[in-house]
Amino acid sequence: MYSWMLRVNTVLTLSVTVLALLCAVASMADNLHWHTPSVELEVVNVGPLERLRNGDDRVTLSLNIKADLESVFTWNTKQLFVFVAAEYWNPEEGFNQISLWDTIIEKKENAKINTQVKSKLLRRSTRIGYFTYPFQGKDLKGRDFNLTMYWNVMPVTGVFTTDKVVVPGFQLPQSYN
Ligand SMILES: *[C@@H]1O[C@H](CO)[C@@H](O)[C@H](O)[C@H]1NC(C)=O
Repeated sequence: MYSWMLRVNTVLTLSVTVLALLCAVASMADNLHWHTPSVELEVVNVGPLERLRNGDDRVTLSLNIKADLESVFTWNTKQLFVFVAAEYWNPEEGFNQISLWDTIIEKKENAKINTQVKSKLLRRSTRIGYFTYPFQGKDLKGRDFNLTMYWNVMPVTGVFTTDKVVVPGFQLPQSYN
């Protein structure tokens, strides 16, 4: 009786250990998985630059957002939170990051993005499932900026990771409209 109990206990301990090991291996395998995403971000039109009453500047950008994030998905990927941000430095505030567009991707089949958006007002597209936000900040006149696509990977098990692709070299208009 005693040795039978002991045996059950050993088997249980062993299976818990194996399970923990499997989870660790899974999350390691996930980290080793080769990611080859492609990202293209283009500014197709820069709308008027406006000075708002509160002293902020606001500009309207039309963007082409193209990406293939299929390779980011593994069996251990629950969902991706993807966003495109304008990033720039200014003397008063240092580094600034303004999210212009975001979306959530829950399936590998939906991980190819090909869309054109206007970053003007807060707008939600229920059909395609994304948000756009205005490009608004201090002293935007003639400002150099980068567009960066980030994706936060929410795993089934393991740690949350983030990756990005930076497309540098954009500039805002030199004058107000
Ligand atoms: C924009 O990209 C360039 C080149 O990668 C980088 O040197 C610069 O620091 C970036 N600017 C910002 C605000 O992140």
